[in-house]
Amino acid sequence: MNLFNVYPRFDIPITAAKGVYVYDDKNQKYLDLYGGHGVISIGHNHPHYVKRLKQQMEKISFYSNSVVMPIQEELAGLLSKQCGYSDYSLFLCNSGAEANENALKLASFYTNKRKIVSFKNSFHGRTAAALNITDNLSLSAPINHNNFPVEFIELNNKVQLLNSLKNEDVAAVIIEGIQGVGGLDSPTNDFLKYVSSCCDQYGALLIVDEVQSGYCRSGKFFAHQHSGVKADIITVAKGMGNGFPVAGIIIHPKIEAKYGMLGTTFGGNYLACAASIAVLEIIENEALLDNVRLVSDYVKNELATIKSISKIKGEGLMLGIELEATIKDLQKELLYNYKIFTGSANNPNVLRILPPLTITIKEIQMFIKALKMILK
Ligand SMILES: Cc1ncc(COP(=O)(O)O)c(C=O)c1O
Repeated sequence: MNLFNVYPRFDIPITAAKGVYVYDDKNQKYLDLYGGHGVISIGHNHPHYVKRLKQQMEKISFYSNSVVMPIQEELAGLLSKQCGYSDYSLFLCNSGAEANENALKLASFYTNKRKIVSFKNSFHGRTAAALNITDNLSLSAPINHNNFPVEFIELNNKVQLLNSLKNEDVAAVIIEGIQGVGGLDSPTNDFLKYVSSCCDQYGALLIVDEVQSGYCRSGKFFAHQHSGVKADIITVAKGMGNGFPVAGIIIHPKIEAKYGMLGTTFGGNYLACAASIAVLEIIENEALLDNVRLVSDYVKNELATIKSISKIKGEGLMLGIELEATIKDLQKELLYNYKIFTGSANNPNVLRILPPLTITIKEIQMFIKALKMILK
């Protein structure tokens, strides 16, 4: 059986990994500044993570949500302590798209409205509702068209935001903490505050998609926390499980749960919880938030000295390096000549870097050196 060929892939079979490095089948080492789409938060194969998962597997790996699972409560407790949303609730699922799907559904249940406001160049996933609020028609099949009303407005445009909300028919505004796939554009703190107050005024919920920008990647637990704003619903995935498929939505106490409102077979299983708990323990024990800020400052300062870089976007260790021209050749050169994995974005001039949050200045210096050689 052939694989259904939907991915343009690098012809490099990665067979092992440790910390910030991955290794191919010939044991060639690569510096991983991409973490498989921003998933690797605490580094590959962290010993504590491996131990937690092994121990859990030896006890029980799976049972469904038909029984109480204290490990889910343990995870919720740790998460609330670190993310600062202590009076909110947690619903666990399996992927970023599914988290957004459930967040939209909750907003519609709560407000009894159908319209969603989203942003130009946004990406929220490939399932039906998540795709409908993603600004990329080329990903849609006919079945996805006209699913429910969505208005795409420009990021940081207050006038467009106000116009879209003033009829009071909007269930939610959904915004990425930092746009990932789109190309690392961020809502300003001032704009996020405005979105939050307009949502309150016009009876819409504020959903922040922190699937990529969450879990300390931006230098705060959630990227929107740089603005001081509180969201009604936050969606998380990627870094949450460091590669174990797990996602969640964090829900304001005003939204009351009812049996059957949301559901999943696999979501919140024992292994997913063990992986997520290990990630949070490592984030805390190794003070990774401090590390993100330290390494980020170093990288930003170094990048600022390279003349051909026109813009440095993003926060923390979710950075976009914008050139005047496309980054295609740069990305290939970094990979094949310097053995460094990086990412791209919809914006063809932006190189996206999402290294493990454990990366040290010493380790990232190799990237800075390579960039300086290539872009000199
Ligand atoms: C901001 C954001 N939301 C949602 C998703 C979808 O997540 P998943 O691929 O886990 O469904 C992504 C994936 O890249 C993302 O970056």
